[in-house]
Amino acid sequence: MKADLPELAALEDEASIFEDLNPAPRLLMGPGPINADPRVLRAMSGQLLGQFDPQFRVYMKETMELYRRVLETRNRWTFLIDGTARSAIECAMVSAVEPGDRVLVLAFGRFGQLKAEIARRVGADLRVAEAEWGTVFRPEQVEAAVKAFRPKLVATCQGDTSTTMAQPLEEIGKICHRYGAMLQVDATATVGGMPLSTDAWEIDCVTGGLQKCLGGPSGSAPITLSERMAEAIYQRRHIEEGLRPTNYAPGAGQMISSNYFDLAMLMDYWSDLALNHHTEATTMLYGARECARIFVKEGHASVFRRHALASAAMVAGAEAMGLKVFGDKAHKMPNVTGIYIPAGVNGDRARNALLNDFNIEIGTSFGPLHGKIWRIGAMGYNARKDCVLTTLAAIETVLAAEGHRFPRGAGVDAALAVYCAAGA
Ligand SMILES: Cc1ncc(COP(=O)(O)O)c(C=O)c1O
Repeated sequence: MKADLPELAALEDEASIFEDLNPAPRLLMGPGPINADPRVLRAMSGQLLGQFDPQFRVYMKETMELYRRVLETRNRWTFLIDGTARSAIECAMVSAVEPGDRVLVLAFGRFGQLKAEIARRVGADLRVAEAEWGTVFRPEQVEAAVKAFRPKLVATCQGDTSTTMAQPLEEIGKICHRYGAMLQVDATATVGGMPLSTDAWEIDCVTGGLQKCLGGPSGSAPITLSERMAEAIYQRRHIEEGLRPTNYAPGAGQMISSNYFDLAMLMDYWSDLALNHHTEATTMLYGARECARIFVKEGHASVFRRHALASAAMVAGAEAMGLKVFGDKAHKMPNVTGIYIPAGVNGDRARNALLNDFNIEIGTSFGPLHGKIWRIGAMGYNARKDCVLTTLAAIETVLAAEGHRFPRGAGVDAALAVYCAAGA
């Protein structure tokens, strides 16, 4: 084989191509992905079925119902998009927003910027309201922005992993509806880690991912659509040639400009019409179904308590080591903690030591926070006492080697005290 391609030249040993895959047993304590629950991996090793196999159609329906429960909704249109979390965000936008429609993005970090970028590509008349990184929006700010711009769609994150902030959403849907707008929420980073009441909070579209609090791999994105949003999309229904029923009449709205992300066709695929679309990613559906099953079986309250406790322990541990937590603590996501890299500590070298000496991954950060904070996650399968304590113990050692001065052992002790006080 000729080493004339840059990627090939970068391989240390070409013979490695023929070796078994043998990933290192990392403890993934960054902002996601995290370690998958072994039950999810086991579910994903099941044999393949075709998407029109009667047994598989039952699995699809069960998955829809499980995600209704995860997302606290009775929305009929609750299903999976085959792709990573951003595929569902893009799917909703390209299907609901016609070129020239007004979209307001409430951005409080990098993933707000992502939604603005997608809206721009869809041809929206876009306005972006920005909150300083480390803060969230107050309802009055949202109301003023919606009232002034009168968008068709408002899009925001529940939790923006880049800043570790969680936007309270209880009032935002109601505000949007008061002014005739729909609300799309990206809950990739928070679904399964903190309360998210789709129906009670009047959210028209929630999208998620598996790879964070739900303890699965990335590659399948749950989505739910309110009746209002589904209707807006379905009036753009244009069935692909070769699949059209004899009585077919196209919808009045403009044809959705993506075939893969056409939610009207995906509704027909997931409904009893069972119109063909893509070949289902069967293995991902098994994984997604297992993630939801595990979550629902443990119960919302217990899962959220486990995440909140891991967050409190991580914060206590960090502070006991003389570290400062980033952002408005009252609005911190429970599953990710931003920690300022102390003066004199080389952030990348410390992260590399965690990886190489302890097999622990923590996250760096983006944009204005790059080089300033680490992001440490404790979520999903890893929202556990042992994961939090092991990570803090390793950080202590690495920080001490970097010359940071603090009472040794204080971080683990403080975190353990949080768990003890909670009887855990
Ligand atoms: C809040 C948020 N939205 C969207 C995404 C994009 O998800 P994906 O990489 O699965 O497409 C992420 C990924 O970290 C995220 O944290």
